[in-house]
Amino acid sequence: MAVTPSGPSARTDLAKLGELELLELVRSHPVPAHVAIIMDGNGRWATQRGWPRAAGHKEGVTAARRVIRAADDVGLRYLTLYAFSTENWSRPAQEVSMLMALLERAIVSELPELMERNVRLRIIGRADGVPAPVQRGIDRVVNGTANNTGLQLFMAFNYGGRDELLDAFRALARRVAAGELTPDEITEAHVTRALYTKDVPDPDLLIRTSGEMRVSNFLLWQIAYTELWITPTLWPEFGAADLYRAVADFQGRVRRFGGV
Ligand code: IPE
Ligand code: IPE
Ligand code: MG
Repeated sequence: MAVTPSGPSARTDLAKLGELELLELVRSHPVPAHVAIIMDGNGRWATQRGWPRAAGHKEGVTAARRVIRAADDVGLRYLTLYAFSTENWSRPAQEVSMLMALLERAIVSELPELMERNVRLRIIGRADGVPAPVQRGIDRVVNGTANNTGLQLFMAFNYGGRDELLDAFRALARRVAAGELTPDEITEAHVTRALYTKDVPDPDLLIRTSGEMRVSNFLLWQIAYTELWITPTLWPEFGAADLYRAVADFQGRVRRFGGV
């Protein structure tokens, strides 16, 4: 049987619609529960203008704010933003410390709006290596929003997919060594529950900006059947309408999960 794509993108030229029309269209169909985003292209955006890379990161924070609002407006349950990878430590020390300070300030200044929108912030990634003042600021917002029941916002910060898997395998190995579990009893569910994202459904949709066709060590276990949407738009230029177009495109896809 031929499968006919449905959803908003099958009937409408999404490029012609404005932000509010897109929002209305997307909200009239089931929205994905979990969208994950690789926010890439800050450096190139700044370099194209002859500006320092830091200017791109600052504008990237503004884009993240726009997208969090848009995700909340569209009714996503989970949004995961890749803010700093374990590989990003290899950048020049000045860029790393600038990014750390910028991200901490951005997260702390977001607290009032997160409270107003009932958004809960959580961090995935390793705490070790993160400068103490940065960690304290982040903890304040994580604790302050802990009882919020709206959009669950995950920031992947000092995050690496392989580190996450290593941590999970070590935790399971410890349970085996303690006699709680035998190797043959280990199931996918055990691995899933040992990840940083243990109580979060896998992303339905993964967005990457700036056109790179790679995963860059993001959510390696969780994206096994995630739909991909890659745009050449650089992250500082990404806005609500882009998120809505990605969701509309997703709504028109047929997910087969290996079936027919
Ligand atoms: C994404 O932008 C932000 C982080 C990785 C922290 P980049 O800084 O990677 O920008 P490009 O890829 O160099 O343009
Ligand atoms: C991925 O972007 C990491 C984040 C967005 C935080 P990178 O710019 O670090 O990835 P590569 O180097 O292009 O793979
Ligand atoms: Mg990059």
